[in-house]
Amino acid sequence: MKRITDYTWEEYNALPVADKAECLARPDGMPFHTIFAQQFDRARLDRLCDAATKIRSIAKSRAGMEFLQRLLFHKRAMIYFTQPSSRTFLSFLSACQILGLRTGEVRDASVSSEFKGESREDSIRTFSSYFDLIVMRTQEKGLAERMAWSLSQSSRPVPILNAGSGKDQHPTQALLDVYTLQRSFERRGGIDGRTVVYVGDLARGRTVRSLSNLLTNWPGVRHVFVAPPPLRIGDDILAMLRDRGQEAIVSDDMARWLPEADAVYMTRIQDEWDESKGESARIDTSRFKIGLREMAAMKPGAILMHPLPRRDEIAPEVDADPRAMYWRQVRNGMWIRTALIASTFDCLSRIDHYFRDNL
Ligand code: NCD
Repeated sequence: MKRITDYTWEEYNALPVADKAECLARPDGMPFHTIFAQQFDRARLDRLCDAATKIRSIAKSRAGMEFLQRLLFHKRAMIYFTQPSSRTFLSFLSACQILGLRTGEVRDASVSSEFKGESREDSIRTFSSYFDLIVMRTQEKGLAERMAWSLSQSSRPVPILNAGSGKDQHPTQALLDVYTLQRSFERRGGIDGRTVVYVGDLARGRTVRSLSNLLTNWPGVRHVFVAPPPLRIGDDILAMLRDRGQEAIVSDDMARWLPEADAVYMTRIQDEWDESKGESARIDTSRFKIGLREMAAMKPGAILMHPLPRRDEIAPEVDADPRAMYWRQVRNGMWIRTALIASTFDCLSRIDHYFRDNL
């Protein structure tokens, strides 16, 4: 077993992704630090989805809620979000509350000592001494991973959950997306062989990168990336999918692919990353929006997803369609994050036992 403490940062950072995943894992193989989607194989994903479903039924009763609240009431979590967020923030906060964790938060690095010139790494290291878990969203690609390495070197390693890093990864969003797909298709043959059509800003959206990665755990998934040419998906993702034996198609014609989709995954234009003012506004996105007409072109059994927040890429009239899954994604997110935190602290078997004995 590879251990993160055996490596300098440079050595760790040069490892192949599978070795990095081993370094970030607990002895049972489940992630200790959750940094990127490649840490999850099919067995781990199934384990987490199963735990999320058990937790949500346990939480239905007062006695069940009391059991959950006691699981981690001796632990404290810091939610360090220096990039705008309300839903992911509240989703993690609620997940912590369900398990009884006390929380502290940092939302704005400019009011902390970083303003006095302290490095972000020093700040997070300091904060880690007060807490047992750090949930982290930052603009900086790779910072969550670097902190995971850094905190692991101390005598009291604190796990890091990456809640969105730069344009690169958003593993817990991908977990909730997979959980939503699993629940939607569980009585209809599962996720194997499904066609997923991703639409929107695929160049800068991190959710699609993490989700397409997780979906390689189901054989025969076909990935169709639909975007205006300047916002097309990165070649690294196409290469990764083909490497793992999955079909990856690039297109700028949404209408062509809607009738073939089993899931349509819409995303917003991520103009906060624009390098020059108004850059995104000059891109014609008019053919990449879903209204009632587009819903009519989709299969009756297909689902429509969105990580939210949305702008105008899905019309509000579509919300009433039973195929619209985005509000369910939000709820699923809270439960799968609860399961992930429980797993991080090795509580899944206690949840299994409670479920078996009481439900
Ligand atoms: C996404 C994100 O922050 O990457 N949102 C989310 O976590 N629910 C997508 C977005 O901001 O558009």
